[in-house]
Amino acid sequence: METKRFYITTPIYYPSGKLHIGHAYCTVATDAMARYKRLQGYEVMFLTGTDEHGQKIEDKAREAGVPPQQFVDSIVTAPGGVLDLWKLMNIRYDRFIRTTDGYHAAAIQKIFRKMYEKGDIYKGAYTGKYCKPCESFWTESQLKDGKCPDCGREVADAQEEAYFFRASRYADRVRDLLLNTDFLEPKSRVHEMVNNFIDCEGGLQDLCVSRTSFTWGVPVDFDPGHVVYVWLDALFNYMTALGYQNDTYNDLEKFWPADVHFVGKEIVRFHAIYWPAFLMSLDLPLPKKVYGHGWLNFNGDKMSKSKGNVVDPYLLSERYGVDALRFFVLRTFPFGSDGNFTNELLIQTINTDLANDLGNLVSRTAAMAEKYFGGTLPEDRRADPALDDALISLAGGLRSRYGGQMEKFQFQNALEEVFKVIARANKYIDENAPWALAKDMEANGVRLGTVLYNLLETVRICTVLLTPFMPESCEEIFAQIGAGADAQTWDSAARWGVLPAQVQVRKGKNLFPRIDMAKELAELERLQEAAKKAALPALEIEPPAAEQVDFDTFCKSDFRAVKVTDCQRVKKSDKLLKFTLDDGTGTPRQILSGIAKWYQPEDLIGKTLVAIVNLPPRKMMGQESQGMLLSAVHTEAGEEKLNLIVVDDAIPAGAKLC
Ligand code: MSP
Repeated sequence: METKRFYITTPIYYPSGKLHIGHAYCTVATDAMARYKRLQGYEVMFLTGTDEHGQKIEDKAREAGVPPQQFVDSIVTAPGGVLDLWKLMNIRYDRFIRTTDGYHAAAIQKIFRKMYEKGDIYKGAYTGKYCKPCESFWTESQLKDGKCPDCGREVADAQEEAYFFRASRYADRVRDLLLNTDFLEPKSRVHEMVNNFIDCEGGLQDLCVSRTSFTWGVPVDFDPGHVVYVWLDALFNYMTALGYQNDTYNDLEKFWPADVHFVGKEIVRFHAIYWPAFLMSLDLPLPKKVYGHGWLNFNGDKMSKSKGNVVDPYLLSERYGVDALRFFVLRTFPFGSDGNFTNELLIQTINTDLANDLGNLVSRTAAMAEKYFGGTLPEDRRADPALDDALISLAGGLRSRYGGQMEKFQFQNALEEVFKVIARANKYIDENAPWALAKDMEANGVRLGTVLYNLLETVRICTVLLTPFMPESCEEIFAQIGAGADAQTWDSAARWGVLPAQVQVRKGKNLFPRIDMAKELAELERLQEAAKKAALPALEIEPPAAEQVDFDTFCKSDFRAVKVTDCQRVKKSDKLLKFTLDDGTGTPRQILSGIAKWYQPEDLIGKTLVAIVNLPPRKMMGQESQGMLLSAVHTEAGEEKLNLIVVDDAIPAGAKLC
């Protein structure tokens, strides 16, 4: 029999900082898909990895004061790095590629040369706008409000001698691929690609595929000084990892073309336009599909390190378990669209689906089997079609409904099908009231055993199908319901009556404990706030001013020691304190200062401070301020701090400071 094979990939990640749940989203989805295919008996190749070249990485390494290779190594392989995160999330990939792996870099040089020799890569000069974080060049007309159309950040003018890929030569074939095949999904992304990049003014532009402005990349071997553009380097990972243009691997025939590349929506352009064009240039078969998934936002906003709103998978999986987190992201958001991650939704999903519905079904069923039969069901059965058939037929057809959704990468819908059956099984418990049957075991014992058996079978089928999403929890459920290896297979999920008649059940630990929403939300907010603060620079001090003042100008400022004789809050203002000061002239001086956030007025009375006294008087909240008190400001863990300049009491009020 011919082996069925499935090749699936995630994007390879930039090791430029810590990954967050948004990055993990795609990898969890890919892992679920790969496990689903393995369950079906496919030989699967699940490839992931890291995209380690480019200017962004070079800059980050410089900032960190280490060579780029050391920088990426520390993010990929160090504790808390990319490999660790995939271990934590229980990602069972088959191969991991780093674009700094020697075999890949050498293959990229050969690929670049081949395209050059074919005439698809030529030398020219590049003038355009460059977005450094995205490593993307744009033409003026592609910018959105003068900014990068992908990330919305500032772009800079750039000009350099560069090699270009003749993408224009493949425009018609790529258009046809996008419009007339199922290459790109969801379909909603197709027109955006065709209209914005192919049928736009000027048509599909040739792509700049080399750089001379930095060195951290694969060198163009026939033209030193040029390094290969990071996207050309990165996209070919999908083939070099199988052995294309290298001897390290030998799986190209087995797995190419890929069945599907899962990619985030903002990198669909590279995968749906340039990637097929590169392959066309080399006369290589195209991947069967690119699926552009949506983004996970947090509280309605894009997750970003600089906003401090990234969701930390370590923190969440430590609290709720990795399976709950994996399940949540795939159960809650349709894969093709954006999703809004909130802590509330996470806890609600865990409580509803996992604790109430699935967890309860498993624990009630196992507890009843133990209580009424000491854990081993009796052999005899007594069916009651009126009560049993609805459940059995719903569970019996589940595998096919679920499979239909999985084939379309509709994880949310596939899980919805499973949870419909779980809800039906919980209802079946109420309809059959096992506790009532148990009151007369002699009369109803056989029926009770049948009810429990039907429940166990339903749990078993659902668990087989949940395995790709929650592998560890499903293993535990199988152990509790006495399902051996033959009762865990894809094949067995379409059959009823697979568990042995005298199945042995063992109630185990509570798989998904209920969470106290209010308490947990407060705790999560506290932890996330603390993590956000910890991620900010500990101490930020404003850099010295670049502009110089001449000595005479400086001397014009009249700084005096002033003694606080009275200090009060200004009514209706959260910020202002009103000081009455002895400035040595014999006339009290009034100064208003916006420091109420940092000081209690009574603590300042009697202190000697420093004021500049020759500023023109100014009205604030209807009161006059005759000068300004000096203070020191800095930022600590994201919070602004202020300290008044307090001087020695031995300095008399009115003394001039110079
Ligand atoms: N290195 C490129 C991919 C090259 S593939 C040949 C890259 N790397 S990345 O680290 O910036 O992003 C990796 C993936 O994470 C992308 O598919 C991106 O869409 C995804 N995500 C990053 N943040 C995300 C969310 N908040 N939500 C969902 N996915 C997002 O792009």
